[in-house]
Amino acid sequence: MKLAVVTGSAGFIGTNLVKLLLEKEYYVIGIDNFYSSEQWKSELFKENDNYEFIMHDIVKPYIDIVENSRLFKLHGKVDEIYNLACPASPPRYIDLSLETIRINTDGVFNALELAKKHNAKILHTSTSEVYGDPLVHPQVESYRGNVNTVGPRSCYDEGKRISETICYEYKRLFNTKIKLVRIFNTYGPYMDPNDGRVITNFINQALKGENLTIYEEGKQTRSFQYIDDLLEAFLKLMATEDDFYGPINLGNPDEFTIKELAEIVLELIESKSQIDYIKMDANNPYKSSHDPQQRRPDISLAKEKLNWEPKIKLRDGLVKTIEYYKSL
Ligand SMILES: NC(=O)c1ccc[n+]([C@@H]2O[C@H](COP(=O)([O-])OP(=O)(O)OC[C@H]3O[C@@H](n4cnc5c(N)ncnc54)[C@H](O)[C@@H]3O)[C@@H](O)[C@H]2O)c1
Repeated sequence: MKLAVVTGSAGFIGTNLVKLLLEKEYYVIGIDNFYSSEQWKSELFKENDNYEFIMHDIVKPYIDIVENSRLFKLHGKVDEIYNLACPASPPRYIDLSLETIRINTDGVFNALELAKKHNAKILHTSTSEVYGDPLVHPQVESYRGNVNTVGPRSCYDEGKRISETICYEYKRLFNTKIKLVRIFNTYGPYMDPNDGRVITNFINQALKGENLTIYEEGKQTRSFQYIDDLLEAFLKLMATEDDFYGPINLGNPDEFTIKELAEIVLELIESKSQIDYIKMDANNPYKSSHDPQQRRPDISLAKEKLNWEPKIKLRDGLVKTIEYYKSL
């Protein structure tokens, strides 16, 4: 058996990852402070003896805390770290801007120190936001991005950029076994209904019979990856040779306009809601003047290195996600 530490374990990706790792018979130590998640998700697995939850802010060191845990004492070492902790939706990280910068600096140092001490592999979750408002389509890993250093989203975008550099320096200086993933829009069960991301907004508006709100004409495009595809790639990446550290794009290249997405959600829910087109308010930091117009991953590297590509079509993933929201 392996012992994995998952930071951000109560978040959307974290909850799905913990579930999968437990199914694969890992020992899992989850760490979270509920900055952008609800406590009930950390309690989902409490009956499972192979799971242990630690409430902690990852900006503060936690090697001692992990080493004093029940599962560490049982297993004696940390094999893998999945560093997910960080608010991922714009309203959340804009409200927690200074914390987001610390999470992506001090928080990343702390995860890397744990990896270094135990010679563990560490998968760190970066983002497609490191490409900013991209001038190259689709985005390939070698594209260096078009990012604003002084905007409301910079705490996250620049935070994730420096987090990659910190990981890279641990690789270069200490040969720490890093794996850098740049995640593109991902969705699925356990997304917080109030996190302000487009898929959750649309599904929840439609389920409540409210109209779906779209900025301008909804022509901006996005590609959406279902969570199971992402997690399959995480496990494949962890199994690659130690020399391969990425960064690697993980996303679904199928592109949809926001309007198309809204129409599919309405059709699948059989909703009578309409679409409201609203003007973009240039002063609203949460919204579209800071939103990239187009985002689509080039996943050639993932295909080559991981023999991976997303399998789940948008409609199929949306059906599963809608079922989850109905069950809440
Ligand atoms: N979901 C996506 O589409 C997406 C896209 C790109 C990158 N990512 C990255 O993947 C990771 C997980 O994303 P998610 O969608 O699950 O986000 P999420 O907000 O649902 O989960 C993040 C989790 O981290 C926890 N957290 C935040 N700050 C913390 C701290 N200081 N100490 C301990 N825990 C803390 C939150 O409480 C939450 O449970 C993030 O790093 C995010 O930037 C996600």
